[in-house]
Amino acid sequence: MWFELMTVTDDRFAKMKPYNAGFARKIPAGALPPGPRWPSLVQSMLLMRFRHQFIPAMHRRYGDVFTIRVVPKASPMVLFTRPEHAKEIFAGDPEVFHAGKGNAILGPIMGEHSLLLQDAAEHRRARKLLMPAFNGASLRRYQSVVTGLAKEEVARWAPGRPFRSLDRMNALTLEVILQVVFGVTDEARLARLRPLVNRTVDINPVVLLGWGYPFLQRFGPWRATVDNQRALDEVMYAEIGERRAAGDLHERTDVLSQLLAVGDGDDGLSDTELRDQLVTLLLAGHETTATALAWSLYELGRDPALLNRAQRAADEGDDAYLEAVMKEAMRLHPVIPMVLRHLMEPATIGGWDLPRGTNVGPSIIISHSREDNFEDAEAFRPDRFLEGHVEPNTWIPFGGGVRRCIGAGFSLMEGVAVLREVLAAYDVRLPDGARDKPKVRNITSVPRRGARIVVHPR
Ligand code: HEM
Repeated sequence: MWFELMTVTDDRFAKMKPYNAGFARKIPAGALPPGPRWPSLVQSMLLMRFRHQFIPAMHRRYGDVFTIRVVPKASPMVLFTRPEHAKEIFAGDPEVFHAGKGNAILGPIMGEHSLLLQDAAEHRRARKLLMPAFNGASLRRYQSVVTGLAKEEVARWAPGRPFRSLDRMNALTLEVILQVVFGVTDEARLARLRPLVNRTVDINPVVLLGWGYPFLQRFGPWRATVDNQRALDEVMYAEIGERRAAGDLHERTDVLSQLLAVGDGDDGLSDTELRDQLVTLLLAGHETTATALAWSLYELGRDPALLNRAQRAADEGDDAYLEAVMKEAMRLHPVIPMVLRHLMEPATIGGWDLPRGTNVGPSIIISHSREDNFEDAEAFRPDRFLEGHVEPNTWIPFGGGVRRCIGAGFSLMEGVAVLREVLAAYDVRLPDGARDKPKVRNITSVPRRGARIVVHPR
């Protein structure tokens, strides 16, 4: 592809002409912040393929607030990079700062009721019904199942043989979703679900094309995607139906049972709503957590002293340190590059008067790499999260405000449980020369070479 042929250097971006080059010194009132004026298709490609070079280059060239234009219709996306900007956006009126619209592309798979796709009153209602399943008490109840699954996974690793930790973490976090979120424990049903779920989470550009142009769904790979989705829905509805009929909901410790339990009254979640939320949790919670874990293992594998410190934490039950490892991995290697809100009314952010229809959001990549937010920002230093120096709205891997990731606590709980099991059993090292860097995979950024590690029993 032509854009793959471009050897991206930061300087090249910086030298290209700005979007409003003609009046770069004096920006007229009401104009958007500066940005490149290349075709929106080019900017979209750069954002999709080379965001880890593109966004920092735009920041260097245009400063703390800049505009990029993306397809369709060259829609403006204004990115903010300072904590006070993030604070303004996260605190914005949810009636004005919509998040659901930007996720509409996920509609065909997640379903119209998905928490990620809703806004305003509908979002408030769904969020209220889902919240109890993600509060501290619920998370503590999930912990032992997560630990059991992590133990089983880790016991299967072959010592001395390098492997892609991302693949193993993906398999593990998927199992966690099936058993801890869906609450499926019946082996026959699990065996039926695994391949269906695996195909569902494999959202590539070809699949996306089929969602954008539904007529394609009669053909080849797109037809297979639709068939797979139908088969998945069938199993999910069967599970939801059986669970509704089960008399032991209150004794069960999984997310679906909790969601059914809060829905005892009239305002509960319908079967379709439950299906949509479960698929949302599957897609939002699986690869994200796996990626953060893979980067954690990679960073520990690079530094024997850090590994030693983390192993001591695992032995002594010092969960705070293990959580700091996960947090620092998410800081240095953001899984999601930015969060966006769509302005339903004009709004002022960072002193910029922005028109209705603008997409705005804090850049997680820049926020996490600013030296004024994180001293020695290039270094992997979990201790920064224990020393109490992380200022509000600087560490924002989970977004913020009323849309802050509902699974933030879940993913940290899961991360700590998994790290504990790995570190109790093994020394972790990088195979010779196994340096890694981020690669864009659909919406998330993952380690290009899968964060390869090698383990040896302790
Ligand atoms: C390292 C792991 C994770 C990362 C980095 C992550 C990141 C994010 C981000 C950036 C958002 C958007 C927030 C915003 O717009 O302000 C989000 C939303 C969401 N996440 Fe996560 N997430 C992770 C794990 C999970 C897990 C484990 C689950 C569920 C089991 C989950 C479920 C969701 C849902 C349902 C939303 C939509 C919330 C709403 O719109 O109200 N995520 N996540």
